Amino acid sequence: MNTQPIGQGESVAVMLKKLSVLWQQRAAVNQGPLQYADLAFDPAKHDFSASLLPFRSHDAWLSAPAALKSRCLSYAWGIYNLKTIYIECDVVTPACEDLIKVAPVNSRNRGVIQDVMSEALLDEALHTRMSLLASNYIYAQRGLAPLEFTAFNLVQWRRAVLAGCNAEWERRLTRFAMACASETLITDYLKTMAEDSSIQSVCHRTTKTHAMDEWSHSSVFSFVATDLVHGLSRHERSYLRAVILKTVEMFANNEMGAWSTVFAMLNFPHAVDILADVGPENEIGVYTGSVQALIARIGLEAAPELAERRDALAGVS
Ligand SMILES: [Fe+2]
Ligand SMILES: [Fe+2]
Repeated sequence: MNTQPIGQGESVAVMLKKLSVLWQQRAAVNQGPLQYADLAFDPAKHDFSASLLPFRSHDAWLSAPAALKSRCLSYAWGIYNLKTIYIECDVVTPACEDLIKVAPVNSRNRGVIQDVMSEALLDEALHTRMSLLASNYIYAQRGLAPLEFTAFNLVQWRRAVLAGCNAEWERRLTRFAMACASETLITDYLKTMAEDSSIQSVCHRTTKTHAMDEWSHSSVFSFVATDLVHGLSRHERSYLRAVILKTVEMFANNEMGAWSTVFAMLNFPHAVDILADVGPENEIGVYTGSVQALIARIGLEAAPELAERRDALAGVS
């Protein structure tokens, strides 16, 4: 029996159809091949916003030679894009595929959800390609060896949580929760670079193009989440909420493991001090407000089992 209120189901369908029309008009994937030929490389410009560096105030960074700082900022662009690629491929894509294959329980909106998820899947494939091309372009222009790194905390934590799940419904909900949170948080993640026109033009343009697509994705995932929440038990809602909240910490992670690799590649002076002094999380407050708004928007008010589930999740972080 369909337990979803009719009004709710209809408004989700109307909104998703409107977002699908917008996708046809605005998504980067529908604008033809990427053309960045007009964006000349300027070696004097930085390739990344220094304000986003987790060690931007550390003495070892402040006292480093300018040329070394410039190479670090090029690698910051590399880390940023590699993490983006992992988010697209390992976090968002599997959730899109889940919803294309099987509709949420009791949903009236199977077809339109499949539609918007397949659109998002196309977008994420393009974003992966954009990140790949833009980071390799900078490595080539700067004559730097590309960063090889696979151990991002967000991805490792996701793998551990999924390995600890005891049932398929839990794995599926976990995949959706992390993707849904990521699709809200990635807008915050991209914001500074998308708005910083002082950085390398290709880096700014790539991030801005991605950010514009992600504005729509956060709405798409919010409406799909609203639909999905109606088919969940109290226990499942509590679990979904806990995983969404926990994803904030992982998203805001400084990924110092990646920085440790870069510092070694550059033989960065006093890198040991930076790695010892800089904590795992950076400006978590930037992300917390967005995810709390998401939780309110999709109808996941505080549940009594929350504390218990958060404790359980903390054990695998
Ligand atoms: Fe994306
Ligand atoms: Fe997205």
